[in-house]
Amino acid sequence: MKEKRLNKKTKALVAVILSFALLLLSACGGNIGDIGENSVETEQDDHITVGFSIDSYLIERWQRDTDIFAAKLKELDSTAELNLQNANGDIDTQKQQIKYLIDKKVDVLVVVCIDSESLTDVITEAKSNGIPVIAYDRLIKDADVDLYISFDNEQVGILMGQALVKAGLPNKKVIMLSGPNEDNNVSLVEKGFKSVMEENDIEIVDVFHTPGWRAEDAATYVSEHITELGDVDAIMCGNDNIATSAIRTLSEARLAGKIKIVGQDADLEACQRVVEGTQVMTVYKPVEKLAQAAAEYALALAKGEALSNVTSTMSDGSYDIPYYFLDPIAVTAQNMDETVIASGFHLKEEVYMNISN
Ligand code: BGC
Repeated sequence: MKEKRLNKKTKALVAVILSFALLLLSACGGNIGDIGENSVETEQDDHITVGFSIDSYLIERWQRDTDIFAAKLKELDSTAELNLQNANGDIDTQKQQIKYLIDKKVDVLVVVCIDSESLTDVITEAKSNGIPVIAYDRLIKDADVDLYISFDNEQVGILMGQALVKAGLPNKKVIMLSGPNEDNNVSLVEKGFKSVMEENDIEIVDVFHTPGWRAEDAATYVSEHITELGDVDAIMCGNDNIATSAIRTLSEARLAGKIKIVGQDADLEACQRVVEGTQVMTVYKPVEKLAQAAAEYALALAKGEALSNVTSTMSDGSYDIPYYFLDPIAVTAQNMDETVIASGFHLKEEVYMNISN
C-alpha cells in the first residue's frame, strides 16, 4: 500500500519537475514534443479511481447508496473516477469483478459483499497489491479491511424488538423472517432482536433465513405456515422488502393487520404502510450520510491519509478493523414526519399518498 502511495507522490513530483523542465525548454526554444506527451500521461494517471463492487440492486436502498456515493465523490474531487461493478447477487461474479478492479489498479476498493465469508482471498489479493479496501454496510470476514462502515446493526434488531413489545404481544409468540446467514448484518440484527425478546419472555417460534434476500421465498414460507401463524403475534422481517411480501401473503389469507410486522430500510411502500397502520415500524437508516462518509474515507485512503473520527473497531474474526457506524432510527406513524420526511428521504405526499384528509 505504502509503495503505491509513494508512487503517486513520486509521480506528482515528477510531473512538477517535468512541467518546470518543459517551461525552461520552451523558453530556450528546444524540442519539447516527447516531454510534453509524458507529462500529460502522468497527469491523467494521477486521477483517483475508486472501484466499487455492489451485491445487486434488488433492494430499493442500494441505488440511493451508490448515487449519493458517486455524487459526493465528484463534489470532493471532480477528477475522481468511479468504476462501479454490479454482481447481480452472484458470488463468483463479485470475485471476478473485484479481480478486474485489482487489474485496473484502482486506488481504493469499496465493497458491498454478498457473502461475508467468501471474499477473504480476493480482498487479501487487493491489499497485497497496495489497494486499500472499505467494507461498505456489510462486514467482510478475515480480510483485514482498512475500514468497515455501516449502521449499528445490533441496534437495528433492538429497535425492531422494542417496537413490537411496545405495540403489544399478547400470545408472547413471534416469528423471524430474516435475511441470509451469508450477510453478517443478519446475525447482528438477530442478536439485538433476540435480546429484547428474551428480556420480555417472548418465544421465537421459528427463524427463517431468506436465501439471497429473495422476498418471494419469504412469501412461500408464510403461505406454507399459514395455519401455525394463527396464534403468532408478530413477524420480524429482515427488511421492508420481505415485509412487503409477507404482508401480501397474509392479506390473501385475511391475516393482514392481525399479525404485527416490523422491517428495516424505510422503503417507500413500508413508510406508506406505517402511516396507514398495516406495519408497526420500519428502521430508517440515513444511507445518504453513510454513502457520503464512505466517499470521504475512500478518497482519504486513496491518498494515504489517516481516517478521521473513526474511534471504534470490530473483529472480523481474525483482525480488529476500524469501524465507523451510524445510528439507525425507529420510525412509527408518530415520528414519520420528523424523521423520514424531514430528512428528505421520501416526500410527504408520497408517504401519505393513500391517506385522504
Ligand atoms: C442491509 C439491509 C438490506 C439488506 C438487503 C443488509 O445487509 O443492512 O439494509 O435491506 O442487506 O439488501
